[in-house]
Amino acid sequence: MALDLQHIRSQFPILEEKVNGKPLIYLDNGATNQKPLSVLKAWDEYYLTYNANVHRGIHTLSQVATEAMEESRRKIQAFINARHDYEVVFTKGTTEGLNLIAYAANHLVSEGDEVIISYLEHHSNIVPWQLLCERTGAQLKVIPMDDDGVLNLDVFEKLLTDKTRIVSVNHVSNALGIINPVEEIIKLTRGKSDAMVVIDGAQSAPHLPVDVQALDCDFYVFSGHKMYAPMGTGILYGKESVLNTLQPFHGGGEMIDVCSFEQTTYAGLPFRFEAGTPNVGGNIALGAAVDFMNEIGRDNIRKHEDELLKYADKKLSEIDGLRIYGKNAARAGVVSFNLESVGIASDVGMILDKMGIAVRTGHHCTQPIMKYFDIAGTVRASFAVYNTFDEIDKLVEAVQKAQKMLS
Ligand code: ALA
Repeated sequence: MALDLQHIRSQFPILEEKVNGKPLIYLDNGATNQKPLSVLKAWDEYYLTYNANVHRGIHTLSQVATEAMEESRRKIQAFINARHDYEVVFTKGTTEGLNLIAYAANHLVSEGDEVIISYLEHHSNIVPWQLLCERTGAQLKVIPMDDDGVLNLDVFEKLLTDKTRIVSVNHVSNALGIINPVEEIIKLTRGKSDAMVVIDGAQSAPHLPVDVQALDCDFYVFSGHKMYAPMGTGILYGKESVLNTLQPFHGGGEMIDVCSFEQTTYAGLPFRFEAGTPNVGGNIALGAAVDFMNEIGRDNIRKHEDELLKYADKKLSEIDGLRIYGKNAARAGVVSFNLESVGIASDVGMILDKMGIAVRTGHHCTQPIMKYFDIAGTVRASFAVYNTFDEIDKLVEAVQKAQKMLS
C-alpha cells in the first residue's frame, strides 16, 4: 500500500519552511529527524497541564506524570519486543547508553580481556570502549571491512576467544547506511564465548523493525531524536539477567533503595540506572513518536525509505565521477557519496544548502571509515518517511549544478 505522503507531510509544519529562499528539502535525518505534531502535542500537554516530577510525589500531578512516563516505557517495550518493561532504561541518547554500559561493566573486564568492535562504528561506539580498555588493561580488537563496507565475519570468528568480554557493533552504519549482519554476529559470539553483545541501534530504530528477543542481544541502545522524538531522549534496552550484573553508572536520587552514610543499597531495574530527574516530557513524547511510527507501520516505513534509497542510488549513479560508498552492500536510509573531481564534500554541501537542501558533510564522527577510503569526508543524504522522490530529483539536479560550479 502506497503511503499517503501528503498526509504524513502535513504533520511536519517545518517541511513548509523556506531555507535561503528555497523550499526546504530535509535530507539530514541521520543527524536528527523532524517531529510530527502529535509528538509536539504530547510534549506541550505535559508542560501545559501536568508538569511534575515523577516517582516522587503522592500529589495528583506527579502521579499522572509518572503513569504517562511509565506508559511510554511500555510502548517502547512493545516497539522493540523486550520481555519486560523494566528492561527499558531511559537515557539521553545512544552515546549515554553506550557509556553507561562501558562504565557499569568495568568490574566485569580485566587485564588481558578483549573487547571487539567493528570498523564501521561511530566514535561513540569506539571511544567508550577505548576508555574501558585504558581503565582495565583490556585490548580493543576491530572487525575489518572490505571496499564495499562489508564486515569480514571470518576474521570476526577468529577474533572471538574465551577472553572476549564485550562485542559492540552498530546495526546500521551512520556514515554509509550499511546494515550489519547483527543476527550472525550474535550467533557467532554465542557459539564461541560468553561475551555480552551490545547493538548500537541509533540508525536502525528509525528505519527497521527491531526485535531484541529474536536477536538475542544483551543490549540495544538508540536515540529518540532520530526517530521523531525530542532531543535528549534515548533508550538502553538490557536483558534482565545481564543488567543485573552491572554496577550503577550515575549515583543520585531515584536509583537508591536505602541510603545512609555508612552504606547505600540500590533500587531495582530500571531505576538503578536512572539517577536524577529524567526528561519526563521528552520520554512521554518518545512514546508519542512510537505511536506515530506504528500508525504508519514499521514495514511501510521501511519499504518507502528503501524505495527512496534505491531511486537515489540509481539517479546519483548516473552522474559521472560520483562515487557512492557501500553501494553494493545492503543499506538503510543513507546514501553517502563524493564527486571525485571536486574532492571537498563541504563545498558541495554549501552549494546544496543555498538551494534549500540540508545534507550532512564531513567525517560523520567515523574517522576510521574515512581513513579507510582515504577521504576527508562524504556528502550524506539520509531519509525519513516524509521524504519524496521529487526531493531526490531536486537533490540530483543540485549535485549536478554543484559539480559544474566546482569543476
Ligand atoms: N550521529 C549523528 C549523525 O550520524 C549525529 O549524523
